[in-house]
Amino acid sequence: MALVLGLESTCDETGVALVEDGELLADVVASSMDEHARFGGIVPEVASRAHLEAVVPTLDEALSRAGRTLSDVDAVAVASGPGLVGSLTVGVSAAKALSLGLGRPLYGVNHVIGHAAVDQLVHGRFPDRTMALVVSGGHTSLLMVDDIATNVTELGHTLDDAAGEAFDKVGRLLGLPYPGGPHVDRLAREGDPEAIPFPRGLSRPKDMVHHAYDFSFSGLKTAVARWVEARRASGQDIPVEDVCASFAAAVADVLVTKTLNACREHDVETLVIGGGFSANSQLRELAQARGEAAGIDVRIPPLRYCTDNGAMIAALGSAVVEAGVKPSTLGIGVDSSMPL
Ligand code: KG4
Ligand code: ZN
Repeated sequence: MALVLGLESTCDETGVALVEDGELLADVVASSMDEHARFGGIVPEVASRAHLEAVVPTLDEALSRAGRTLSDVDAVAVASGPGLVGSLTVGVSAAKALSLGLGRPLYGVNHVIGHAAVDQLVHGRFPDRTMALVVSGGHTSLLMVDDIATNVTELGHTLDDAAGEAFDKVGRLLGLPYPGGPHVDRLAREGDPEAIPFPRGLSRPKDMVHHAYDFSFSGLKTAVARWVEARRASGQDIPVEDVCASFAAAVADVLVTKTLNACREHDVETLVIGGGFSANSQLRELAQARGEAAGIDVRIPPLRYCTDNGAMIAALGSAVVEAGVKPSTLGIGVDSSMPL
């Protein structure tokens, strides 16, 4: 029996959760998103200060909801990267203080792997070989998971924009509020996905030789911008729904095609999709439909576990404790671009 506390502070969400033997007892998230909206993007210093103010109340709330006290905690897990340095520093410092004060081991874990691990709380343990696609405003990574605690390999990642980031940029260019992703999704549902043939980045055979499972969305975003600007310059109306639908279809197509190719190549029958962009309807629908056709079980946790939260870190922390991994030292730092 181990009660693991998970602490998340990589970007603008302060999350604390408690997991005991694979069961989530409490998961509390405070977000500073509202403070960033007027700047049209996350302001790192604002985020760091918000974490500093939120971390203790969030911890207290999680303990109270779980009906536990700090002395019940057996291990402390914290996301030590990747993310914003200032934000990470607040969470990692708080986790060190807890570890030291309680005399319990500290585990610095990888936030991106946490986005996959959280699914185990919802859909149960992963089979021996599982593929994970982690997509958000900050990351787009394809992971081969042989063991979530000890053996995760990154097969590919985005070479430029993350999928959510590309949606936000297209939203901005269409004059939609920040973050634009959910607005583009909504409008896309009313448009024709085949109206405009936007390019599918890095999916030509020539590109695949070097970047079999890497992604690129900046060329697509530029293609959308050029198309919209040309229409504006010639005084024509912009068919916003068709632009959104064609753009969203291109993103979903690239993500799903490459991910299912990787499943086939690595002989994997289970695919987990995590990260805030997994809310995207075009991606969900295409992944479910093509996954089913290919005999692949597609697992997507409920949205509250896909956006940044403490449960993902507590889930990964639990797996790490269970696997008998050596704890981190109190000297650990943070790593803004932490590799897997
Ligand atoms: O994981 P998340 O909440 O935050 C991080 O980036 O870490 O992901 C949010 C990203 C934003 O870029 C947001 O616009 C995008 O995911 N997003 C969506 C949808 N919901 C959120 N993009 C497209 N369609 C959606 N339904
Ligand atoms: Zn994230």
